[in-house]
Amino acid sequence: MTDHKPYMKPYEEEIKTFSWDISKNELGYKDGDVINIGEYCTDRICRMGKGEKLALIWEGYTGEEKRYTFNDMRQLTNSIAKYLTELGIKPGERVCLFMDKVPELYFGFLGVLKMGAIVQPLFSAFGPESLLTRLQDAGTSAIFTQKKHLPKVRNILKDLPGLNHIIVVDDDGVKPLREKETAFNMDKAERVDSFDIYPSKAETPSVLHYTSGTTGKPKGAQHVHYSLISQYMTAKYVLDIKDDDIYWCTADPGWVTGTSYGIIGAWSNGATQCVLDAGFKSESWYKFIEKHKISMWYSAPTAIRALMKDGTETAKKFDLSSLRHLASVGEPLNAEAVIWSKEAFGIMFHDTFWQTETGCIVVSNYPGMKIKPGSMGKPFPGIEVTVVDLKTSVPIEKKGVVGMIAIKPGWPSMIRTYWNNEITYKSKFQNGWYLCGDRASIDEEGYFWFVGRDDDVINTGGHLVGPFEIESALLEHPAVAESAAIGKPDPINMEVVKAFITLKPGFDQTKMLELEIMNFVRKKLSALAMPQEIEFVDTLPKTRSGKIMRRVLRAQEWGEEIGDISTLENDM
Ligand code: WT7
Repeated sequence: MTDHKPYMKPYEEEIKTFSWDISKNELGYKDGDVINIGEYCTDRICRMGKGEKLALIWEGYTGEEKRYTFNDMRQLTNSIAKYLTELGIKPGERVCLFMDKVPELYFGFLGVLKMGAIVQPLFSAFGPESLLTRLQDAGTSAIFTQKKHLPKVRNILKDLPGLNHIIVVDDDGVKPLREKETAFNMDKAERVDSFDIYPSKAETPSVLHYTSGTTGKPKGAQHVHYSLISQYMTAKYVLDIKDDDIYWCTADPGWVTGTSYGIIGAWSNGATQCVLDAGFKSESWYKFIEKHKISMWYSAPTAIRALMKDGTETAKKFDLSSLRHLASVGEPLNAEAVIWSKEAFGIMFHDTFWQTETGCIVVSNYPGMKIKPGSMGKPFPGIEVTVVDLKTSVPIEKKGVVGMIAIKPGWPSMIRTYWNNEITYKSKFQNGWYLCGDRASIDEEGYFWFVGRDDDVINTGGHLVGPFEIESALLEHPAVAESAAIGKPDPINMEVVKAFITLKPGFDQTKMLELEIMNFVRKKLSALAMPQEIEFVDTLPKTRSGKIMRRVLRAQEWGEEIGDISTLENDM
C-alpha cells in the first residue's frame, strides 16, 4: 500500500516554499526545452518503467470493457499521430474530436498533440449548429467522429470548405463513406513503435476549448504545451493521485475538466484511470466504483446532488470502501452535499474552483486541510488569487466583502488568447489582474466563498451555456420575434435554461408551440441548451439602447432584488 500521507505539505507550510520549479524538476523540464504533452503522458511514463502499468480501463454502455497499458497507449497515440501526418495535416492546424467517451477520444487527443496540431475537443451531444459555429471559428481541417454523429457533420459540411478530412473511427463498411470521409480503426491499426514527436516548445499551441460568454459566439480558449507544468502539479497536490490509485474523472473531455484532469493531469502522473462511457445512473456509478476499486474520484456537484437524491441507502448497497479521496468542480458545491458525502462515503468531497481559461485548479480544498462545507477553499500555492472591487479592480482588503475573483497573471496553464479574438481576451485583464467573472468573498481564515457569476452565462450541471447562442437559435424559429435566455434555479442542475419569448403576429401562445420551440433548440444546439421552460410575454425589458435586460428577468426568477434599473426603457 502507498503511504496515504498527502503529497502536498500542510497548506501554511507549502505556501511558503512552493514554486513551479518543483513541477519542472519533477518533470525533468528546463526553460527552453522541448515540451510535448503527448510525449509526457505516454513515452515518458514508459521510460520511467511503467510501460506495463494500466493507463486506461474503459467501459462502454453495453458493459463492454477495454484495457490499455501505458505502452499500448504510447504506440496507439503514435499510430494516430502518424496517420494524421500521412493525411497531410500540418503542425498548428486544428483537429477536432467529436466523439463519445470512447478510447479513440482519449488517445486521439494525445495523438494530435504528438504530431504538433492543435486539438479541439467538442462535446458529442452538440447539434449541427453548435458544431458549425465552433468549426468555422477555428478553421478546423480534420475531425474525428463516430458513425452515430456523422450525419451532424455531413449536415454542415457545405459551410465548411476547409474541413478536408472526416475520420470515422467505427466504420463497419456497411454504408459507403462519402467524399472527404476516411475510416480509421484504432484497435486494428498498425502499432507504431516509434514516431518523431513534434518538438513543441512551451508556447506552442496545444488545446482549443470552446467556452461561452454573455455576448457573441463561443470563444476558443487557446492553451499551450507549457500548461502541463500546472496540470501535472495540481493533479498531484490537489487530487493527490498516487501510484496505486485507481482514478475516475467523470467529466467529458468536451469540457476542460475532462482534458486537464481526465487526460493530462492524470496520465502525466502515470495514473491508472477509468472511463465510463454511459449516461448517469446512481446504481451504475456505484457499481463502477465497486468493480474497479476506484480510490480517487473527481466529479461534479450536479452528479453529487443526483446521487444524494437517490439516498444514502442506495450508496450503502455497494462496497465503496476503496474510495479514499473525493473532489468536485464546476458549480457551487453546497454545504449539504459535502456533509452528505461524509455520511454516504465516510469522506467529504473537496470543492475545487477553476475555469477553462485558468486551465488548472486555482482555488481548492486540499487533502488534509480543514474543510468548511460550502467554501471553495484557498488559492493553490504558486497562484495569487484575491477578490477585487467590482468597479475599480483594486484588491479588497476587508474580510467578508464580496468582489470579483481575480488572479495575478503568469501561472503556467493560463490561456494565451481567445482564437481570433484578442480583443475579448485583453478585456479580461484590469489593473494587472485576470478577472474570472465570478463573485466571491474571502473570510478571516483566507477561505473563499462563491457568490455567483458576474455575467449572464448559464451554468447548467457544470456546463456553461451562452444566452446569446440560445437566443440566436430561438430567433431562427419562424414564430419567434424576440427572446431572452436566462438560468432558472434547479435543485439538481443548479440552473436550467428558461426562455422568454415574444411572438410574431399571427402566432398563438400554445403549449404545442412551446414544445416545438424547445425541440428546435435541442436539435440545433444540444439538450443542455434547450429551454426547460418557455414563457411567452408581450414585451421584454430593455435598456434605452435596446439591449435586452436579462438581469431583470433573472432577478424575478430567483426572487432577488432587481437593482438599478434606471436605464430601463419600459416598466416591468
Ligand atoms: C465557471 C467555469 C473548470 C471546470 C469546469 C468548468 C463555475 C467552476 C466552481 C466551483 C462555484 C464554479 C464558475 C466558473 N465554477 N467551479 N467550485 N464553485 N462555481 O469550466 O466551463 O470554464 O466554467 O464554472 O462560474 O467561472 P468552465
